[in-house]
Amino acid sequence: MDNFIEEILFTHEEIVKKCKELGEKITKDYQDKCPILIGLLKGCVPFMAELIKHIKCDMEIDFMKASSYQGICSTGTVTITKDTSTSVAGRHVIIVEDIVDSGLTLQQVTNLLRDRKATSIEVVVLLDKPAGRTIKQFKPKYVGFTIPPKFVVGFGLDYNELYRNLDYVGVLKKSVYDK
Ligand code: IMP
Repeated sequence: MDNFIEEILFTHEEIVKKCKELGEKITKDYQDKCPILIGLLKGCVPFMAELIKHIKCDMEIDFMKASSYQGICSTGTVTITKDTSTSVAGRHVIIVEDIVDSGLTLQQVTNLLRDRKATSIEVVVLLDKPAGRTIKQFKPKYVGFTIPPKFVVGFGLDYNELYRNLDYVGVLKKSVYDK
């Protein structure tokens, strides 16, 4: 195990298996709807790349960047720093995110896409950390794994831009950020 990791939560094999299950559900739910999957950069990249391999209906991809985190804490304010290049009006949208914690980011992005008249908006996340939820009513439709309130990295998730390249998800040792 890498020496900055306290515990591995999900191996690469487990994540791929979960992406296959999620992809199969999405395929079933979106036949003939040609959804746009909008990935929230940068954390979505490995998850989205794996997920779309398992979606077997017509679909498109696009990306947005919305940030609220600095280090291990949410700043509470979500800023859109990169927008989609496709119009979402009249389209079925699935937002792809690495993790939902407070729910603030996904709630604000969902509201924005609703204002832009998307026909439907659902969310797929690899990880759900429900203990951190401040937007209580926010429930993503498609969830890979539910995790305890710990700071995790890997498979797209970072700590100050590092560790996104790990092919598993693990808990980051406190000694890395308690310096
Ligand atoms: P929310 O707005 O509080 O739901 O936060 C969502 C964003 O916070 C995610 O896209 C991540 O960038 C970041 N985040 C939340 N928890 C973690 C974590 O455990 N590790 C790494 N990033 C996290």
